[in-house]
Amino acid sequence: MQDRWSRSIDYLRLSVTDRCNLRCRYCMPEEGVRRLAHEQILRLEELERLARVAVRLGIRRIRVTGGEPLVRKGIVPLMARLAGIAGLDDLAMTTNGILLGAMAPELKAAGLQRVNISMDSLRPERFRAITRGGAIDAVWAGIDGALAAGLNPIKLNVVVIGGFNDDELVDFARLTLVRPIHVRFIEWMPMGASRCSGIPGCFVGVGQMEQTLMEAGLRPEPVSPVRGAGPAAYRRLPGALGTIGFIGALSQHFCAACNRLRLTADGHLRPCLDGPVEFDLKGLLRLGVSDRQLAAIFRRALAVKPAHHEMITEPWKAHARQMSQIGG
Ligand code: GTP
Ligand code: 5AD
Ligand code: SF4
Repeated sequence: MQDRWSRSIDYLRLSVTDRCNLRCRYCMPEEGVRRLAHEQILRLEELERLARVAVRLGIRRIRVTGGEPLVRKGIVPLMARLAGIAGLDDLAMTTNGILLGAMAPELKAAGLQRVNISMDSLRPERFRAITRGGAIDAVWAGIDGALAAGLNPIKLNVVVIGGFNDDELVDFARLTLVRPIHVRFIEWMPMGASRCSGIPGCFVGVGQMEQTLMEAGLRPEPVSPVRGAGPAAYRRLPGALGTIGFIGALSQHFCAACNRLRLTADGHLRPCLDGPVEFDLKGLLRLGVSDRQLAAIFRRALAVKPAHHEMITEPWKAHARQMSQIGG
C-alpha cells in the first residue's frame, strides 16, 4: 500500500484496550481517562477481521498496543488469531511489562514474536512516582520472563523528561553492556494532557541526549537497525550486548519514512498519531458492511494521511485523545 506521499505503508498499530494498570504522569491525566464501555471496544473477532482486511491490503507487521494490552481479556487467544493470518511477517507488542513475567511463555507460544517494554526509571521510588504506584520489580520480572521465553529482540522504551530522569541516561546506556536489550531514548511528545507543565528544560532533544552520553565518556557507534520498523536510530557501545536507540519524535523529521496506520481500541482508524482525522471502522463493521467496503476505508485513510505531524508548529493544540487512548 502506498500513500499519496509515495510512502509504503505496511505497519498497523492495533490498540486492544484503553485501560491500563499504571497511570504514567506523561501519558494520562491525574484523574485518569473516562473508560470506554465494554460494547465500545472491538471484540476479538472484530479485531481479527480488521487485521485480516489490513493484511490483504498489504500490512505485513502488526504491533499490539493499549492502554496496556496485557490487561485485555483474551489477549493470548487474540495473539493466536493474529499469528494465524497468512502474510503477516511481524507480530509485536508494546507493554508496560507488569504482567509479562507470568504471561511471556503463553504469549510466545501463541505467536507473539517480540516486545517493547516501557521503563522510564531504574530507581524504584522514581519509577513508582512516574507510574503513580507501579512496582519496578514486576517490570524486571517481565523483562526476565520475556528473555527466558525467547521473545526477541526486547526493547526498553525510555521517555526522557528533563529534571526527572535525564540523570539516568548513562545508567540506562550501561545496562546494554550487561543485558541483551535495546534501550531507546524517546523525545517527549505533546499529546493530550501530556505536557511539560511549564517546567523549563523538560524537553530533552536527541542531540542533548547524545551529548550527555559523550560527556560521560560513552561513545556509542552506529549500527544497523535492530529488528523492527519504527523510527529509532540505533548505536552500540563497544562490546555491548544490546544497543541504544534514539527516537527524535520532534527534532528529527522521520515522518518522511512513515510506514504506519493506527486502529484505536474503539475501532477508529487513524492515519497519523497526531491530528483529529479518524474513520469509524467499528460503526461500519457493526452495520454489517463487507470486507471490500472496510478495505475502501483503509484506502481512504491512506489518501488523507498527512505528510507529517504538527507537534512542532502547533505543540499546544488540543488533542481529542490521550496517548493511552491511541496506543503510542
Ligand atoms: P519497532 O521499531 O517496530 O520495534 O516499534 P516502534 O518503536 O515504532 O514502537 P513503540 O510502540 O515501541 O514506540 C516507541 C516510541 O515511538 C513511542 O513513544 C511511540 O509513541 C513513538 N512512535 C511510534 N510510532 C510513531 C509515529 O508514527 N510517529 C511518532 N511521532 N512517534 C511514533
Ligand atoms: N511522548 C513520547 N512517548 C510517549 N509514550 C507515551 N506517551 C508519550 C509521549 N507523550 C510512550 C510510552 C510507550 C510508547 C507506546 O509510547 O512510554 O513506551
Ligand atoms: Fe507517521 Fe504521523 Fe507518526 Fe509522523 S507523526 S511518523 S506521519 S504517524
